[in-house]
Amino acid sequence: MGSSVMDLQQEILFSLEKDGVVISNEFGESIKESHQKIVGAIKSLESLGNVVNVKQNALKTWECTEEGTGVATEGSHEARLFNSLPPEGRSVADIKDNFPNSNFALGAAMKNKWLKKEGEKVVPAMTSIEDQVQKYLQAITAGAADSVPDNVKVEYKKRKLIREVEMTVFEVTKGNEFTTSIVKQEGELTKEMIESGQWKKTTFKPFNFKSKGRVDQRSGYLHPLMQLRSEFRQIFLEMGFSEMPTNNFVESAFWNFDALFQPQQHPARDAHDTFYVAEPGKTINVPEDYLQKVKKTHSVGGYGSIGYQYDWSRDEAHKNLLRTHTTAVSARMLYKLAQDGFQPVKFFSIDRVFRNETLDATHLAEFNQIEGVVADYNLSIKNLMGLIKGFFEKIGITKLRFKPAYNPYTEPSMEIFSYHEGLQKWVEVGNSGMFRPEMLRPMGIPENVTVAAWGLSLERPAMIMYGINNIRELVGPRVKMELILDNPVCTIDKFRKRAKPDTPGAPTVESLTKRQELILDRLSALQAKVANIAAKMGVKLEDSDTAVTTQLDGGPKLGAIHDVVIYADPRRPPYSLRALANALSSKYSMCLRVHCHSTVKEVSEKLQQFWGVCHGIERSQCNVCLTLMWRQDGDSPTALMPTLTVSPLASSKVCGEHNIGRYLSRLLEVALPSINLYESLSSPVFTTQVDELLDQCYSKFTLGNNKERAGYVRDLNARLGKESYLVGSNLTLVDLIVLSNLLQFRMLESAPPNVQKWSKGCLAHQLCKNFI
Ligand code: PHE
Repeated sequence: MGSSVMDLQQEILFSLEKDGVVISNEFGESIKESHQKIVGAIKSLESLGNVVNVKQNALKTWECTEEGTGVATEGSHEARLFNSLPPEGRSVADIKDNFPNSNFALGAAMKNKWLKKEGEKVVPAMTSIEDQVQKYLQAITAGAADSVPDNVKVEYKKRKLIREVEMTVFEVTKGNEFTTSIVKQEGELTKEMIESGQWKKTTFKPFNFKSKGRVDQRSGYLHPLMQLRSEFRQIFLEMGFSEMPTNNFVESAFWNFDALFQPQQHPARDAHDTFYVAEPGKTINVPEDYLQKVKKTHSVGGYGSIGYQYDWSRDEAHKNLLRTHTTAVSARMLYKLAQDGFQPVKFFSIDRVFRNETLDATHLAEFNQIEGVVADYNLSIKNLMGLIKGFFEKIGITKLRFKPAYNPYTEPSMEIFSYHEGLQKWVEVGNSGMFRPEMLRPMGIPENVTVAAWGLSLERPAMIMYGINNIRELVGPRVKMELILDNPVCTIDKFRKRAKPDTPGAPTVESLTKRQELILDRLSALQAKVANIAAKMGVKLEDSDTAVTTQLDGGPKLGAIHDVVIYADPRRPPYSLRALANALSSKYSMCLRVHCHSTVKEVSEKLQQFWGVCHGIERSQCNVCLTLMWRQDGDSPTALMPTLTVSPLASSKVCGEHNIGRYLSRLLEVALPSINLYESLSSPVFTTQVDELLDQCYSKFTLGNNKERAGYVRDLNARLGKESYLVGSNLTLVDLIVLSNLLQFRMLESAPPNVQKWSKGCLAHQLCKNFI
């Protein structure tokens, strides 16, 4: 056993010389070597050219199961029982309690007449036994299945001790260039071989062009912290923020502290808290006029402030340090903004900062700071709180609290706390505030401009997300590679699960809703762009608010046409949209059109007149244009769903009747706040209830199978026992959507009584005048 491949090759060749043929499995048995190794050696011989000929044959044979292997090594259950019995025997009850597989072992040992019963006891009936089962299984393990009688093999197979397997056996015969003296083939041509000329006499291994590459190749991964950084970056970008340049770890005390109205005696400026740079120790360029203003504000005040009343030192301000916060970058950017001519901005940065901290489980001397800055006319602390709420919502943190705090550069200042479901307590997640006039005015930021800002560390959410308690496991040399390899993608979702363990709702619904929001965001951005271009070209647009929907108020005007295309499958007419469009046309001048896509040959008269009443308004005269396009795009549940696109952003879609319903309801409620279909009650509870039922209908009914749909209707019936509508006492969007779904699947006629009654009530509602 354990011979090298070279020895094996040699042995095979000798055997060939003698017998003229070598069969791989038989040869293996005869020299007690594993078949795998023999095959390896045969393959090497084959690669030599024509030394040997090799033929493959499939061979059915037997191998031991796990249990069979156990028997082969340790003996059969019955033999083990026999061997474990003392001469005076043991009681049956004792054996049954303590001996594994006792029933089988007892039965077999009795049948073999190895044991006999004496009263309550079982005693040996022989002095020694021969364990035939073990012997047979050992033979099978050794590959000598032929020596075991066929009926035994059938029995063992039944007992799950062995199983039949197919193996490939190699039959080796002599080749044209057969020899028993093979030379070792070289795998590599070396410098030495070339120099000595030895290469001329050497035989080389042929290249194996068929060999497969490594299958476990790994690509690079981003460190989890960096993944999270790109995730946060994405969130800011989605919110319309632009990134600040943070590529300077070394900063002057001027920008890090003085520009931020942080007095030169402030303890944070102490070397105990800040790393100062020895060389170069001093900065060279600080804008002089601005420096003078900063100096004045610190020492005597200005802009309504009395300052700190101390002798401001230029030397102190010129000191170089490792920036202690990215707010230094924000200060530089705000100064630049003021110099370039102020415009409202939303900035963010995510990068490293350094502090001379005592290191412990949660603190290192450096960390990454996330910072958001919004500068606009007359922002208030309400705006700041809203921004922070929106930002944290995007990472799934919804329970927020603000606590008054102090920063030298903000007033008011607030620490941000979030409720941590895992720890069951409020934890600090960030710091925020409105930049002080003492900071902004010397820069030249106009007087009616306020700046809201907030900052947080990147490490803390990362530690929560990845469930890490010691920061050294996340950053630095002690980071385990597994952390990086096992987390190939960053998932703020992971965090979300931890933060809100019992969040309901299917992910698809969630992502659809998100998508819809994204469209609205993009549309606002586009409108802002149009407004910008119009301003540059000197075209006057009516007041344009950023909210998409408010655009639709008032008469027709340039840039305010709301052009919406809905694709729908004629087999699933989205009836609810008819009711919504009708309601919309009472407020907006609407252009309602129906077209047929080439995938649809013909539609009924009814579907051609889907919008009902003829709307003769010219497209250029209207402010909402709804085009319905009948299209057949396949038979899958999603292909059957209607989709809505807002031109000219045709790449984004709102999918599903329920989401289109949400979209149109919003349009409607802006114009007609008296309609409380979805959101205008401004009661989050109401909207959430509607949302929940919409999503339920979507996942259980629209996407469900027949059984799920029937179940849904039964639940619906139970729910509608006393109520005349699904949410509250008025018709809502969810009534429209559910009703439409029932009609599409022709399940209304056969629906149980409460559903019937409810549907009649809905259809009698004035909104649903021409629903069907
Ligand atoms: N710079 C603050 C810090 O380091 C964070 C902050 C940024 C506070 C912006 C208010 C406004 O903690």
